[in-house]
Amino acid sequence: MPHPFPHDFRWGAATASYQVEGGIERCDWAQAAREGRVPPCGSACDHYRRFREDIALAATLGHTMHRFSVEWARIEPEEGRFDEREIMHYREVLTAIRAHDMEPSITILHFTLPLWYAERGGWEHPNAPRLFARYAAYVVERLGDLCTTFATLNEPMVVAGLGYVRGRWPPFHTRAYVRYLRALYHMAKGHRAAYHAIRAARTSARIGIVKHTVAFRAAGKNPFHHLAAWCMNLLWTRAFMSLVHHSCDWIGVNYYQRRVYGDTRALPYTDMGWRSDPEGIADALLQFKRYRKPVYVAEAGCADASDRFRASYIRDTVRGMRTALAQGVDLRGYCYWSLLDNYEWAEGFEKHFGLVEVDYDTFERRVRPSALLYREICRTNGGVVEGDEYQEP
Ligand code: BGC
Repeated sequence: MPHPFPHDFRWGAATASYQVEGGIERCDWAQAAREGRVPPCGSACDHYRRFREDIALAATLGHTMHRFSVEWARIEPEEGRFDEREIMHYREVLTAIRAHDMEPSITILHFTLPLWYAERGGWEHPNAPRLFARYAAYVVERLGDLCTTFATLNEPMVVAGLGYVRGRWPPFHTRAYVRYLRALYHMAKGHRAAYHAIRAARTSARIGIVKHTVAFRAAGKNPFHHLAAWCMNLLWTRAFMSLVHHSCDWIGVNYYQRRVYGDTRALPYTDMGWRSDPEGIADALLQFKRYRKPVYVAEAGCADASDRFRASYIRDTVRGMRTALAQGVDLRGYCYWSLLDNYEWAEGFEKHFGLVEVDYDTFERRVRPSALLYREICRTNGGVVEGDEYQEP
């Protein structure tokens, strides 16, 4: 008998403000697009105006949870000036999610920084953690009656790595290792400061952080492979988590890739050029067992424009989550990345992660067949994965 999912396990999908909303102009990514350094985002999926339709669609797809992010550049467009209209907008989004009996999960910052914050040095500025914490506390104060689950930051290691070492994302520094460490340290400090500021503002909030996790492992007995995997897990996951896990009520795990040293299997690649290894999510999740906190898969999914592989990708992800549950991970929910096709950062609109396809000319939404398999998984609490009673449409 496969390990069952807890009866209150949550199933859903995730989005992020800049990637779907459209019309966000006063942030570092929009500025980078104006300078021609990254593709323009424009209207994205026009989700800012079509959120009701999108949330209703998620509900018809069986989702019981919805993860989304609020946009700092909208809420605090100038330092210290908070825009009440934007708060009202996100209150409407939350009301729509709750009206469909879905549990909302808000990410307070998903990568994009307001221009005023970026221009004074972004995460490197000495006041960066304090200013972030003030914004985070404001968000929870104003939205915390409609939502209890909040993540402070999405994937700090990715922001720092691509922005300060690989030079692909704002602020486009290459091999700036000292600045990388400073930014990362300030993000950890910002998370902790936000945790305490939020706690003081609202005791009911459950606060976490979302960590990008590459699971490193070794196949076989080669001791160098084992040493390499141990070091990489330390560098990529454990070192950063040691700075923040005490200030977390839960942990969000984003999983896209596993690296197995000495593995000679010929695995397929997703449209991102990443080796597809969805069951490897078990290894990613097991790394978080040591913190003894509830864990959510905040993102796992694949870019697959043809939709030929997504259904089996999701099935294998669910198998991997079962394995983690069976081994004692306190897993509470899964959000597929992503509900909609969207702006894939430096890749623009070329990659298609969505359960729902978006026509960027007409903004028409089209449900992909894999979304229907996922609907059965949601409705049966992970039940259709082991038996094969579900037929591909
Ligand atoms: C990010 C998303 C991104 C996805 C696919 C995650 O690292 O949180 O914003 O679209 O990966 O690349």
